[in-house]
Amino acid sequence: MVGSKTNTAETLLEISNEYSDCENLQKPIFYNFPSNNEIAQKNVSNLDLNDIYVGDCLEILKSFPTDSVDLIITSPPYFQQREYGSGGIGNEKTVEDYIKNLLDIFTQCVRVVKKTGSLVFNLGDKYVNGNLLLIPYRFAIEVQKLGIVKLINEITWVKVNPTPKQDVKKLISSTEPFFVFAKSNDYCFNKDDFLEYRDKYFGKQTKKASKNIGKKYYELIENSVLSQEQKKQAQRELAEVISEVNTGKIESFRMKIKDIHALPYGGNAGGRLTQINNKGFTIIKIYGKSLRRDVIESTVETIEGNKHPAVYPEFIIQELVKLLTKENAVVLDPFIGSGTTAVVAQRLKRNYIGIEIHSEYVEDAKKRIEENKNNYSLELFV
Ligand SMILES: C[S@@+](CC[C@H](N)C(=O)[O-])C[C@H]1O[C@@H](n2cnc3c(N)ncnc32)[C@H](O)[C@@H]1O
Repeated sequence: MVGSKTNTAETLLEISNEYSDCENLQKPIFYNFPSNNEIAQKNVSNLDLNDIYVGDCLEILKSFPTDSVDLIITSPPYFQQREYGSGGIGNEKTVEDYIKNLLDIFTQCVRVVKKTGSLVFNLGDKYVNGNLLLIPYRFAIEVQKLGIVKLINEITWVKVNPTPKQDVKKLISSTEPFFVFAKSNDYCFNKDDFLEYRDKYFGKQTKKASKNIGKKYYELIENSVLSQEQKKQAQRELAEVISEVNTGKIESFRMKIKDIHALPYGGNAGGRLTQINNKGFTIIKIYGKSLRRDVIESTVETIEGNKHPAVYPEFIIQELVKLLTKENAVVLDPFIGSGTTAVVAQRLKRNYIGIEIHSEYVEDAKKRIEENKNNYSLELFV
């Protein structure tokens, strides 16, 4: 048994106090943070970077220093999906026991992540007697009850080539969630880097702005019901936004003027309708970048010659590592399997740490990492 109940609750409460808006969440009661003298007093430098630890991740995580890695990204064994040998995760008799075991590991993961870090957990669902159990969501809800992290996004993986398991009375299951949790509000988030290739390769080419840009708006302002003062402000802001287009800062813009253009529906204070009511106009800037949505499409992958049965797509991990870390960051996967997280981290010039209970998988993972060592230039896109 690690840590007394009092210690556990205190440690967790310390962390959860950082979240004022998590106050209404149920406080944790039973999770096993090690007591202070049991937490290894090690520096990050004592962690073996760019290597895979062999063994049970719960026990190994307990020996890792607190606040030491930037990102934990992982896909634990799914509930009653397959036998991975010793370790037990996924082979529990009930969903409740499975989630309890996962939460013990998750709690250690939260301790190990830096305050600026984040955690990504990918889980699969399961039908029992024709009933979909919603396991990923049960897990996420239990995590929220801990009150030690915030759920930042649920990113849906849309499988382009799902397993065609036919059932006359069910549609083919073709999505899985990736839950993104953060330990504080200061989490690293490089939004423009997520699916960045879309803007780079398929984005609209910025056209040279026409000489007449905005001319029609000057005329409309002049002939509008706006007061003289409002007209001057509208002309000033119009000139500014035209200059932003000319210098390439934004792609384009639209202007809405009182009693000339249709009013936007609804709107809160500070919204477009309020701007029109208060100053007689509003300007909508168009940045020309694609919207960063919480959906990612990718094929289900297998690696030739690799024994591992449940590899997650390099492409998704690549996009999430770019979104959530900077170069040289430390990325940990406590269920590293065939080494996907390490291959991607290495390619993106991040450090990795893996944990895997199955030594046979570790050998293959190390081979795969070595083979991909010099692939720095290869960035995948779908
Ligand atoms: C779903 S697979 C992860 C696959 C990985 N994402 C990839 O792309 O190859 C889960 C892995 O966790 C390992 N595992 C199961 N229980 C474990 C435990 N208690 N500690 C460490 N690894 C464990 C399994 O052997 C399996 O390789």
